[in-house]
Amino acid sequence: MMEQVRQTEWDSIGSPQWRRLVSAEETLAKVTPLLGAFGITRVANVTGLDTVGIPVVMVNRPNSRSLAVSQGKGTSLAAAKASAVMESIEAWHAERVQLPLRHGSYEDLRYALPLIDPALLPCHVDSLYTPHAQMLWAEGTNLKDGTGCWVPYEMVHTNYTLPLPTGHGCFQATSNGLASGNHWIEAVLHGLCEVIERDARTLWNLLPEAAQEETRVDLETVADPTCRALLAKFARAGVAVGVWDMTADTGVPTFLARIVQTSSGGQSSVRPASGYGTHLVPAIALSRALTEAAQSRLTFISGARDDMGREEYEHFLSEQEQERWLARIQLGPLLRDFNAIQGWRGQSLRDDLAELRTRLARVGIEDVIVVDLTRPEIGIPVVRVIVPGLEGVDGSPTYALGPRARCITGL
Ligand SMILES: Nc1ncnc2c1ncn2[C@@H]1O[C@H](COP(=O)(O)OP(=O)(O)OP(=O)(O)O)[C@@H](O)[C@H]1O
Ligand SMILES: [Mg+2]
Repeated sequence: MMEQVRQTEWDSIGSPQWRRLVSAEETLAKVTPLLGAFGITRVANVTGLDTVGIPVVMVNRPNSRSLAVSQGKGTSLAAAKASAVMESIEAWHAERVQLPLRHGSYEDLRYALPLIDPALLPCHVDSLYTPHAQMLWAEGTNLKDGTGCWVPYEMVHTNYTLPLPTGHGCFQATSNGLASGNHWIEAVLHGLCEVIERDARTLWNLLPEAAQEETRVDLETVADPTCRALLAKFARAGVAVGVWDMTADTGVPTFLARIVQTSSGGQSSVRPASGYGTHLVPAIALSRALTEAAQSRLTFISGARDDMGREEYEHFLSEQEQERWLARIQLGPLLRDFNAIQGWRGQSLRDDLAELRTRLARVGIEDVIVVDLTRPEIGIPVVRVIVPGLEGVDGSPTYALGPRARCITGL
């Protein structure tokens, strides 16, 4: 009976609610025959390595030119598989960009080609960029008017094998805005939400702790069945959850979920973890943050990532660190009513895209550049979305704050 009730909970939160055009099962049926061609050697359901039960899948692509392991999460095993497999496939595309490239400095090319404004792109304090720096450029399309726009190749591809191409070290080279989907528009929406999420995270992280605390969400006010089911899974496993509303002035709901084990009877052997989600529908944004937190915890448990060193394990497993996370989750006041967070649900994905662009335009951002990385012979939509003016990923101490962040810090 309990299994039946749980199944019903999950039935209401399949991929349609995450606004996908086809079911995760259909996506998998289409891409599974191609896994060998992408060099994917394993699709592993690692959910059972944790006690929470939120589906998490790991995909191995040993010959990759960036991360060899992708993770996926979802409210069903099929959705988690689709997300892990699609992430690996989009990375494969970005490691093998076949678009025509142009070589030259900004000054060399700006009279001949429509170039993005490099001053509005994320970079690091030690950036090698100057208007005379020789570099490679790839062409995207500006959604504002459908015209071409050339962007630094460094922000498009993820082939990190050495030697790196000419002009590397100028801009932030990450996977931010890289996305795939069942349709071009699905991929663009995912990539755009990701870029908006990273901007919101960077801005929120700059707020003083007291201001951050004011954004804590009262989870008792969350009624959405998907999110309630996810919260129930954490509760059953003795995992405390705290959620913060990181939504920036772009007005696209963005949440941070932090989780920490409480019922281990002492120091836990599982690290505290966090997850993020952005979507026009607040419940979808929150469910993405919650599932991503479960995924982060499982990434740590499975030990699958080469870029997580021993020090990271020691740091996060220390009693002090676990107590700090727990205090942050349990002690703060619960201020924000989830229902008061403004959402938006269009009639179609096209409406969603128009609405995202309207919200960006309200903060003076009109250019959304999409570089299409789809390979016609494969037919899986893959894009890189770049939005000049939005903040990049602030994870590194050398990240150079952009104009929006400098408005917050007053620097
Ligand atoms: N059911 C699905 N059908 C088609 N594409 C999917 C599906 N689920 C996820 N994807 C695609 O897979 C990629 C990974 O999505 P996922 O939600 O797992 O990660 P993410 O939020 O982009 O994570 P990260 O922050 O690590 O990049 C995205 O490009 C997404 O559009
Ligand atoms: Mg992504």
